[in-house]
Amino acid sequence: MEEKLQAIKQEALEQLKMADSLERLNEIRVNFLGKKGQLTALLKSMKDVAPQDRPAFGQMVNNTRARIEEVLDETKKRLEKAALDERLKTEVLDVTLPARKSLMGHRHPNTIAREEVERIFIGMGYEVVEGPEVEYDLYNFEKLNIPANHPAKDEQDTFYINKEIVLRTQTSPVQARIMEQGKLPIRVIAPGRVFRSDEVDATHSPSFHQIEGLVVDKNITFADLKGTLEQFARELFGENTRTKFRPHHFPFTEPSAEVDVSCFKCGGKGCRFCKGSGWIEILGCGMVHPHVFEMCGIDPKEYTGFAFGVGLERIALLKYEIDDMRLLYENDVRFLKQF
Ligand code: DAH
Repeated sequence: MEEKLQAIKQEALEQLKMADSLERLNEIRVNFLGKKGQLTALLKSMKDVAPQDRPAFGQMVNNTRARIEEVLDETKKRLEKAALDERLKTEVLDVTLPARKSLMGHRHPNTIAREEVERIFIGMGYEVVEGPEVEYDLYNFEKLNIPANHPAKDEQDTFYINKEIVLRTQTSPVQARIMEQGKLPIRVIAPGRVFRSDEVDATHSPSFHQIEGLVVDKNITFADLKGTLEQFARELFGENTRTKFRPHHFPFTEPSAEVDVSCFKCGGKGCRFCKGSGWIEILGCGMVHPHVFEMCGIDPKEYTGFAFGVGLERIALLKYEIDDMRLLYENDVRFLKQF
């Protein structure tokens, strides 16, 4: 009996030494200490031991069980530590590494410029409105006093969807749409995308943006137009900016003008930026043509008004001194993140 016990102990310890996984460890536990295990079986054969030897024998079995349990626990700890070491080795976590930076978005220069222009006009009591990019020829041309065969239609290199529908070449059709609604007085700006079949170069793109302005009320004069745009130029380009109204022609305004601002780079002395002239052209404007009023259902004897159209890219390029419009469309993040 004693020898058998010794053999069991010997074998158990031997197997534990070799055990290389927690599963194997469990097998060993069941095999030796379980209900049907070897040690339990040995206890059951207690009846074969002489009665006076039984207590001592029982004590020996218990000691053996305790010893095996002890080694089992040690082995378990050893295996668990080995497993943890292995994980730590493979799942390297270097807490000294710098944290990964989350990329921050940037507003596009066009967006910044549009919001700046909107802010200025909202401050003067204007409302921001929108019109469709796919537009009827009727609104894009006809109601703006640009009849069929008018040279301006060629000048603007229109994309036609069909005979009656175009991609708008300007934001001016929004004027006609707003006037037709008949709610007077009107004081709106209409930013949006426009399209012309132009080749791409440093100053042209088949798709760009304009901001239209329209004011209609009783007793609106050219002086109101001048005052408004002078104020706009000062807010946009700085307090010392001067403006110059040059006579021009647009079919939908009479009289019409183009507006130049004094070069904010050289202050008007002449530099590379303003091509030596001291002035930079920024927009077209004029008093709403009586024909346009009539076609849009407003009585030109009762109402007058002014309108203007600004190229948004032009403002963005000027404000940020960008010399190639293509940069605004390529959306290279190295460019965009500068704003
Ligand atoms: N629509 C014109 C263009 O695209 C710009 C313009 C000029 C708009 C005069 C106006 C205006 O409202 O009064 O060139």
